[in-house]
Amino acid sequence: MSEANLFTPVRIGDIALHNRIAMAPMTRNRSPGGVPTELNALYYAQRASAGLIITEGTTPDAGGRGYIDIPGLYDAAQVAGWRRVTDAVHATGGRIVVQLMHTGRISHPDFLDGGTPVAPSAVAAAGNIFTRQGPKPHPVPRALEAHEIPAVIASYGRAASLAIEAGFDGVEIHGANGYLPSQFLSTNVNLRTDDWGGSVENRARFLLGAVAAAAEAIGAGRVGLRVSPGSSFNDIADSDPEATLTHIATALRGRGLAYFHLVGGAYGYDAAGIARRRFDGPLMLNGGYDRARADADIAAGRADLVSFGSAFLANPDLPERLRTGAALNAPDTATFYGGDAKGYTDYPALAAAA
Ligand SMILES: Cc1cc2nc3c(=O)[nH]c(=O)nc-3n(C[C@H](O)[C@H](O)[C@H](O)COP(=O)(O)O)c2cc1C
Repeated sequence: MSEANLFTPVRIGDIALHNRIAMAPMTRNRSPGGVPTELNALYYAQRASAGLIITEGTTPDAGGRGYIDIPGLYDAAQVAGWRRVTDAVHATGGRIVVQLMHTGRISHPDFLDGGTPVAPSAVAAAGNIFTRQGPKPHPVPRALEAHEIPAVIASYGRAASLAIEAGFDGVEIHGANGYLPSQFLSTNVNLRTDDWGGSVENRARFLLGAVAAAAEAIGAGRVGLRVSPGSSFNDIADSDPEATLTHIATALRGRGLAYFHLVGGAYGYDAAGIARRRFDGPLMLNGGYDRARADADIAAGRADLVSFGSAFLANPDLPERLRTGAALNAPDTATFYGGDAKGYTDYPALAAAA
């Protein structure tokens, strides 16, 4: 047990945080053309009392676009848009990293100028994807050729460099929730028989390559990783998620990464305990936390930081509310994905709510 709690400052890699409360990454579909706006800057600045903001999933490469109006980080206009966001967050003393999300098969030709989404193998996800014309079935993706994969991995390094140019404190590699790196990890989407499929070492090669590319570009101390080993989100299955997590966390030991971030979920095994024992850097846990549970996990040494998703979405001053025990605004799910200021920048802070 330690004396630490959510409000104890902590250093993660090269980044010093004034508390252990992270804003979890949340896609909000409010960046038309992939370029962050003034409204996006206001939204993040309102939440800058977090120890660390992790942005919504952001495309590192034009081939990784999925979903309506999600931001990118591969051209000059996007860098300039993100600069507005990082300046606004830093102006109030916040810290912010960008989540790099290549959606892989969770996309549609509508988002790719008519192109076919890519994946480890030509296996479509069940169900629909929401497009401007409404829901459409997930298309059958194109299996990446082995010779194409290094360029996709390199896009994470390039995006990491652009992140620093845009003023970010670092990047988070999105290895969770059924997007491209998670598709490589999984045994139902990755049916490859080359160096990128089969054994856990081969299935993890893409994800670990993306982490290494970003670390090489900007230094490991500015790179975090998010995984969800055992989640079935986006029609993912892994025949042995415990072995997958063990391999990844062990492979990243001694690398000096900023943090390891585990998406919350009932995985049927002690994922947090495995991550804690195998990985030697800061561990961030997530999923339905309140202050008491977060403080207990930090005091017990199960976690170094905790990320809050929907609570942060609806409460721009979440740290102050957690500190004082104030009531929380309820999130409005109808305005989660897309729209304008409503349900985005109009959630009241405490003083305004009184
Ligand atoms: C509106 C919304 C968008 C989300 N988008 C992302 C995303 O872009 N990347 C990601 O890793 N997780 C995403 N998530 C998952 C959250 O980061 C988090 O894991 C989840 O909300 C559970 O945490 P909570 O119980 O504190 O809300 C999203 C969640 C919500 C509610």
